[in-house]
Amino acid sequence: MKNIGILLSGRGSNFEAIARNIASGHVPDARIALVISNKPDAGGLGTARRLGLTALAIPSRGKEREQHDREVAAALKEHKVELVCLAGYMRLLSPWFVKQFPQRILNIHPSLLPSFPGLEAQQQAFAYGVKVAGCTVHFVDEELDHGAILVQKTVPVLDGDDEHSLADRILEQEHIAYSEAIRMVLEGNFEVAGRRLVRTLTASK
Ligand code: GRF
Repeated sequence: MKNIGILLSGRGSNFEAIARNIASGHVPDARIALVISNKPDAGGLGTARRLGLTALAIPSRGKEREQHDREVAAALKEHKVELVCLAGYMRLLSPWFVKQFPQRILNIHPSLLPSFPGLEAQQQAFAYGVKVAGCTVHFVDEELDHGAILVQKTVPVLDGDDEHSLADRILEQEHIAYSEAIRMVLEGNFEVAGRRLVRTLTASK
């Protein structure tokens, strides 16, 4: 059984989808050991508590980045977390934090990276006039929205779309993509060659 730690800052719909997919057996041999928010009023914390999960607020406000990251890492280690999933965590991680969990931190971003990194990616894509949008689950490295890609899902931009309807359809795909990526990482039958994920035949662990 692998322990997953979730970091979030807001409503937590991606976290909820992961929890649902674990409960239904779509992500086998995993449990959510801990949910942490840097925002004490994040909706995702309430959801976690309702689901009977351990939920912690570790406020980031007014703290040096690495100081906050050290508190978060200590909580994750205390709960024996092996895989850290950022799910709407609106805070850059320090290089120190990234080193604590090598190839063990995932993020989801609501665009087809490397297009539209950063904030409001769906609006950026819509305003740019792309015909295909989507989402990306990737490993976290020291650069924003940058590490090796695990899963991408495409979403067509329809004639009647506005940025909100597009974002809603991207979110539906996010909820599928994140659990797929977690399953891949936990199964472990791939190697990262440069930026590319290459499938290997047998599980490496
Ligand atoms: C999602 O769009 C995710 O891709 C981005 O932040 C949003 C979080 O939504 N990183 P939620 O809190 O999971 O509902």
